[in-house]
Amino acid sequence: MPHRWLITGAGGMLGRDLADELTARGEDVVALAKADLDIADAREAIAVIVEKRPTIIVNCAAYTKVDAAEENESLANAINGSSVEFLAQAANEAGALLVQISTDFVFDGTKRRPYDINDATHPLSVYGRSKLLGELAATHAERHLVVRTSWLFGVNGHNFVEAIRNQIAKGTNPLRVVDDQRGRPTYTPHLASAIIRLAQLDARGIAHYADDDECSWFDFAHAIVEETGADTIVKPVSTREFPRLAVRPAYSVLSTERYERLTGVRPESWREGLRDYLSRRA
Ligand SMILES: NC(=O)c1ccc[n+]([C@@H]2O[C@H](COP(=O)([O-])OP(=O)(O)OC[C@H]3O[C@@H](n4cnc5c(N)ncnc54)[C@H](OP(=O)(O)O)[C@@H]3O)[C@@H](O)[C@H]2O)c1
Repeated sequence: MPHRWLITGAGGMLGRDLADELTARGEDVVALAKADLDIADAREAIAVIVEKRPTIIVNCAAYTKVDAAEENESLANAINGSSVEFLAQAANEAGALLVQISTDFVFDGTKRRPYDINDATHPLSVYGRSKLLGELAATHAERHLVVRTSWLFGVNGHNFVEAIRNQIAKGTNPLRVVDDQRGRPTYTPHLASAIIRLAQLDARGIAHYADDDECSWFDFAHAIVEETGADTIVKPVSTREFPRLAVRPAYSVLSTERYERLTGVRPESWREGLRDYLSRRA
């Protein structure tokens, strides 16, 4: 039976790429941006979703301002946590699979080997805790899949690549970038394909998807400078020199072993993604 996909938060960085990818594949897609559907409005969320009769719901809506969340805990929890309860209820009423997108920030980053899906969670920030609430809420859908990912960049949103390009354009030289936080940058079109692959397999539980390979923010910035052909010098600095409101995990490399086992496909390369990004974003 063909699927009907319903995307919430379809105006965001991931949501737009996912909607575009599904449309390009000729899939039946209902893409709802925040103006079309506020997932925090329980009654509306359930009524609208059930009426559309999706077979797969992908929740790309989220409160993603990591630092601002420290001062807006109840709003972050409402959007990232409670709203997912409403989506789970809607999924159950529609008989749909609920795919909830989550984050590497559910971990505390004290490990030095890639985080497995079964590793203990211990978020360090309000944002991380709110996303963990969302993971728990998603389990209230009879059919659910949580896809954790990390360090997203895509042409339809603000992200690290754009921040570095803005600094290059402003003539900041040298650029000082933290070298003691490691993770896996992920290009949102690659993540969109991974989500589609997992959902089409009717995968359940938790899966991690992140692009290959792991690096530090410094390494990532260095690659951006190289690919743009700028002569900016990138200098490594420590997180202590760059205090921010929310504490980030020092090491949040996700193991994609289960994804690879389920799909038989290796993750794509963020460096390739970066080249594609730069060719598409003026
Ligand atoms: N960005 C990353 O590095 C990263 C890393 C790991 C995981 N993730 C997760 O990946 C997912 C997608 O992130 P993203 O980077 O694409 O975020 P994004 O660009 O901020 O997109 C999120 C979208 O959700 C919308 N939204 C906010 N509140 C809503 C509500 N109540 N109802 C409906 N829509 C609402 C936002 O609209 P407004 O902008 O108008 O508020 C925005 O369009 C999220 O679950 C995020 O937690 C992101």
